[in-house]
Amino acid sequence: MCGIVGYVGQKQAKDVVIEGLRLLEYRGYDSAGIALVHDNALATDKKAGKLANLEKAIAEAPLPSSTTGIGHTRWATHGAPNDVNAHPHAGPQRRVAVVHNGILENFARLRDELERAGHDLLSETDTEVAAHLLENEVRAGADLTTAMQNVCRRLEGAFTLVAVDAEDPSRVVAARRNSPLVVGLGDGENFIGSDVAAFIEHTREALELGQDQVVTITREGVEVTSFDGSPAEGRQYHVDWDLAAAEKDGYDWFMRKEIFEQPRAIADALLGRHDEAGLLQLDEVRISDDELRDIDKIVIIACGTSNYAAMVAKYAIEHWTRIPCEIELSHEFRYRDPILTRNTLVVAISQSGETADTLMAIRHAVKQKAKVLAICNTNGSTIPRESDAVIYTHAGPEIGVASTKGFLTQLIACYLLGLYLAQVRGTKFGDEIAAVVRELAQMEDRVQQVLDDAARTYALAERFRDAKSVLFLGRHAGFPVALEGALKLKELAYIHAEGFAAGELKHGPIALIEPGLPVFCVVPPRGRDQLHDKMISAIQEIRARGALTIVLAEGDDTEVTPYADVLIPLPTVPTLLQPLVATVPLQLFACELATLMGHDVDQPRNLAKSVTVE
Ligand code: G6P
Repeated sequence: MCGIVGYVGQKQAKDVVIEGLRLLEYRGYDSAGIALVHDNALATDKKAGKLANLEKAIAEAPLPSSTTGIGHTRWATHGAPNDVNAHPHAGPQRRVAVVHNGILENFARLRDELERAGHDLLSETDTEVAAHLLENEVRAGADLTTAMQNVCRRLEGAFTLVAVDAEDPSRVVAARRNSPLVVGLGDGENFIGSDVAAFIEHTREALELGQDQVVTITREGVEVTSFDGSPAEGRQYHVDWDLAAAEKDGYDWFMRKEIFEQPRAIADALLGRHDEAGLLQLDEVRISDDELRDIDKIVIIACGTSNYAAMVAKYAIEHWTRIPCEIELSHEFRYRDPILTRNTLVVAISQSGETADTLMAIRHAVKQKAKVLAICNTNGSTIPRESDAVIYTHAGPEIGVASTKGFLTQLIACYLLGLYLAQVRGTKFGDEIAAVVRELAQMEDRVQQVLDDAARTYALAERFRDAKSVLFLGRHAGFPVALEGALKLKELAYIHAEGFAAGELKHGPIALIEPGLPVFCVVPPRGRDQLHDKMISAIQEIRARGALTIVLAEGDDTEVTPYADVLIPLPTVPTLLQPLVATVPLQLFACELATLMGHDVDQPRNLAKSVTVE
């Protein structure tokens, strides 16, 4: 959801800003813009569409040399994604330029106030209001830092703002409330970004900011204050990945690269999770064993793909711990007035750690005194920071908008959480837990096995490149896999796709079946004989009505072969862990089909990776 960059140092700010935007473009790509400070004036350019459009414009009309600048890549909220609404926005005299991520909820009132005072606002955005307010302040004599503090106290909503003042090239000033912002600490230069990818090429030392803080970066240093001007501090940390991890590494898409990184990501997610005696340990879970023993209900909240990880987690956690486990979409959670007590564990799953719906949901849970545990991939992000405990998924940066390795490593974290709770509460014997952990350790190879067979799925994508609709069926832990397969296809190929619980088919969706309709069927392992057999019945039912069945089943499952028009063999794994292998062909299928259709796989239309508005 919008990428923002700020730089002050000795390098050409244009190069640093554009490169930073390139690495942040996954956050939003409706338009892009840049503002540089040069010779007591602003030099700006902005263009609708992807960053490439802005780069082309700059190549045709070069910007002046400057070592202070800001930039933005947008996911539109207020106003259509056109040149005028693109950021940066400038004040009336073009002295201050601002980029913004978030929504200023009281912007209509502020805009009205400005217009009545004679201001002429050019765009439909809420951001331009902030630019005018800031410029009023600096023209009245405030420095940009004080101006930002004063303006932020008047703003409502969620925002990250980054600004420059044409008459003060020494500083870039930023502020955050409920929206991501990190500072990159360099030598003789400092950076601002929506996330560390913006500056990872230059430094791996970062500073995370708290809520309602203003940060001023100069060449010499970084100063953090609260909105009221009182001194404040950020938390410094080292980023454990580098530029290479944020590059495509020879793949056509980040998404494809990330799909193929999954074996390694699984291994990393499992690393160091048990002690010498073989007991599971989750160092980051700072909730005491006594408190965990008192938990009488778990509520897992998440959005999008992370919500499907939550659905899988329910099957595993309830089975292993016997603790009732609810799943709820984050944006629905607090509005239904959920019953939460001190003994409720709320688990928030978020790859980015910044999804506003999930953040607001955990704040509600914290107010109700529930314990909150985050499962997150992004160190320094807001959701883990505001939680009592966190399990990091260690997948490395996920740039493709459609989540892949983020999802698989969330599953690993959920399994670990379930087993850890079972260990603490004694609902599973140590050898039973150790057996599952051994199975998990093998998943790296199992997923690799599926990836080695990618050509089979790619051929399928070629065969169905003209499909208008695709269905996905699953049961038990295979049901969320079916939902995820359908979501991937909607996100990337923009075709109608739906996932159903196979048992629900006969209650309505079977009416959708018509001759030739491709239906992916995720068959549970034969170890769960009843589930397995019922799934086969469902496949027979749709096949009898002309569906073309693409069956994902254990490679040597001969019972299902007669009903499979196409068979995608899966390795034999326990039922609860099957989503780790069954999801992978569906990711490959969506990625390949979208590629064949000529879509931008990493940046699908209308989407953004990290949705920081509610
Ligand atoms: C967006 C992304 C999805 C993602 C969802 C939740 O909608 O496009 O891929 O699953 O947000 O994101 P989170 O970072 O909270 O897991």
